[in-house]
Amino acid sequence: MTLIAFPAETKAGERRCSVTPVNVKAYALLGANVCMQSGMGVGVDIQDSDYQEAGAEVVDDRKALLEKADIVVSLHKLSSEDIKLLKPNTMIISYLDPFNETGFVKQLCEHNITSISMEMIPRISRCQKMDALSSQASLAGYVMVMRAVNTLDAVLPMMMTPAGTLKPAKVFVIGAGVAGLQAIATAKRLGASVTAFDTRSVVAEQVHSLGAKFLNIDLGQTGETGQGYAQALTPEQMQIQQREQAKCIADSDIVITTAQLFGRKPPLLIDDATISKMKPGSVIVDMAAESGGNVAGSVAGEIVLRHGVSLVGTGNWANGVAKHATQMYANNLFNLISEFWSKEETQFVIDIEDEIQSGCIITHQGEVTNQMIKSFYQEADKSREKA
Ligand code: NAI
Repeated sequence: MTLIAFPAETKAGERRCSVTPVNVKAYALLGANVCMQSGMGVGVDIQDSDYQEAGAEVVDDRKALLEKADIVVSLHKLSSEDIKLLKPNTMIISYLDPFNETGFVKQLCEHNITSISMEMIPRISRCQKMDALSSQASLAGYVMVMRAVNTLDAVLPMMMTPAGTLKPAKVFVIGAGVAGLQAIATAKRLGASVTAFDTRSVVAEQVHSLGAKFLNIDLGQTGETGQGYAQALTPEQMQIQQREQAKCIADSDIVITTAQLFGRKPPLLIDDATISKMKPGSVIVDMAAESGGNVAGSVAGEIVLRHGVSLVGTGNWANGVAKHATQMYANNLFNLISEFWSKEETQFVIDIEDEIQSGCIITHQGEVTNQMIKSFYQEADKSREKA
């Protein structure tokens, strides 16, 4: 019988985890054995006894857990030391950051580990229930507005009181993907006047449907990939965007930047000169602070003051609502595993030709099998040779 192991998360400050007692019962119905490391749910107030009552085995010894596992499921990637403990052909499922973690991916090949990257689940309808990028980004959008509200010393809604009328706060959201749309919806619910911009003009309709305004900037040709991701802008287009959005930024009380380019460094959207034109006391939340930053001067993990403007770069946004983030991430994982589970064989059936599996499996049988990652590494090798 397949043993699915859930080791505790080791990243400092991480409260989320990869399984709930509800999931344990569902895995048991598939016929899997579930074993987890003691204490894994403490960050979200789930006790070992809750998991045990749901039917899981709970162990203290992480090493023993990893050594006997057939599938290892986690939120963040395992450590290099963890990988050395796994049996050959073990499957690991977690965020892997395969674009950047080349050394780790090499180790997975050397140890014959089959790896699934949760970031690489294709963005197609069939995968929505497994799409951890979306589930966590949506919560991130909500949390970023909450962080901004807690930092701003003003209210968001219009208030007409005997003591005078307070105007609604102005919120500008740059990037209207999953996180941006949730940020727009949350700020609207709180009564702010919201404007948004995205290089993919197709999202203007979605922005309007949330009751927000869309800032029209003529950038000429801007594409999107087959999976709906934005293409990088040219330097000239970046200049036009920065110039045209500067007034809207200067007028805003809160700016939330959520612009990402899949597999690449996020674009720099707001420079220091633009920040200096904002009203003191305003707030910018930089969703991308941990991966390079959309905003000049934002610092990963911190809130810093620049020209009297608070730049919020605290990051790990979904961790701020760890209970719901865990519920959604753990469900994404279960939906992925159950999609490919054979009840007769009581195991995950690998089919490297399947559209979803070929998209999210990074390594299998000692090789990088993922076409996108393979091409990315080949391009990186070529550029290194040229340099
Ligand atoms: P993302 O996190 O890669 O990017 C966030 C947003 O930033 C995107 O909307 C992008 O267009 C925008 N952006 C990039 N550069 C920008 C710039 N210079 N200025 C302003 N905005 C910029 O994207 P996310 O949120 O992960 O989703 C992207 C798209 O993927 C969705 O809007 C949708 O079309 C598609 N998708 C499809 C799903 C499905 O199952 N069918 C599920 C989730 C997403």
